[in-house]
Amino acid sequence: MFHRIFRIGRRNIDFLRRRDSRAIIREFRRAKYLFFIKIHGLDLHSASLEELGLSATHSSYYSNSGSPDLEKVLDRQDITADDYILDIGCGKGGALLTMAQYPFKKIDGLDISERLLEIAESNIRRTKLTNCALFHADAVFFSDYKNYNYFYMSHPFPCSVMQAVIANIIKSIDEFPRPVKIIYNSPACHNIIIDSGRFNQTEEYVYSDIDTYDSYKVYMNISEARNNIGILYYSL
Ligand SMILES: C[S@@+](CC[C@H](N)C(=O)[O-])C[C@H]1O[C@@H](n2cnc3c(N)ncnc32)[C@H](O)[C@@H]1O
Repeated sequence: MFHRIFRIGRRNIDFLRRRDSRAIIREFRRAKYLFFIKIHGLDLHSASLEELGLSATHSSYYSNSGSPDLEKVLDRQDITADDYILDIGCGKGGALLTMAQYPFKKIDGLDISERLLEIAESNIRRTKLTNCALFHADAVFFSDYKNYNYFYMSHPFPCSVMQAVIANIIKSIDEFPRPVKIIYNSPACHNIIIDSGRFNQTEEYVYSDIDTYDSYKVYMNISEARNNIGILYYSL
């Protein structure tokens, strides 16, 4: 018995030695996050395009990006009670629940899928989040981008749709000039944002110890961006 415990202990220590400390901290934060999901009984399971009845030419499938990784990005944003964030393609609201740890005045979400929004509503009720509104809308036709100075996207749609959404955000800035930040996870349509000529990339968050091209990129509209600093890189 004692030998068995000793062997298991040895195995854990070897495991810890093999992993770099950043990965261990990430795993600890991840376990804490999974516990949060469990105790509140949240449904944040992925859903395919087929299950949702959505088209691949207009939408990406649902997966949750709320996480300790997103926290690391938000930790660096100097968020205050004057900030309003919209999760464009919020799905079941997982990212909204991570954003709720920060002092945003409003944390809103929109999604094309009514089914996902019903689950988001239940998740939000379970966590007693009060400063949050959900909109059932196609991001291409949403007309209230002017109400927000932060936009979050976790690869919600293909680049043809992104083009129209960025044009709408730019229109809202022209109508109501203001500093705007876009936080983009899995930034497949990065070029669309840069080629608009209205945003600079200011930050990038990369996984230095995982073999993935995934990252979070942060953009600011050009009049507000710290042009001469360039892109600041952080590891997740
Ligand atoms: C990868 S999930 C991200 C979910 C959430 N933002 C998060 O990070 O946890 C992408 C979401 O975008 C939504 N979506 C896809 N096309 C959309 C569109 N044209 N307008 C609004 N939402 C859309 C999908 O229904 C899905 O919930």
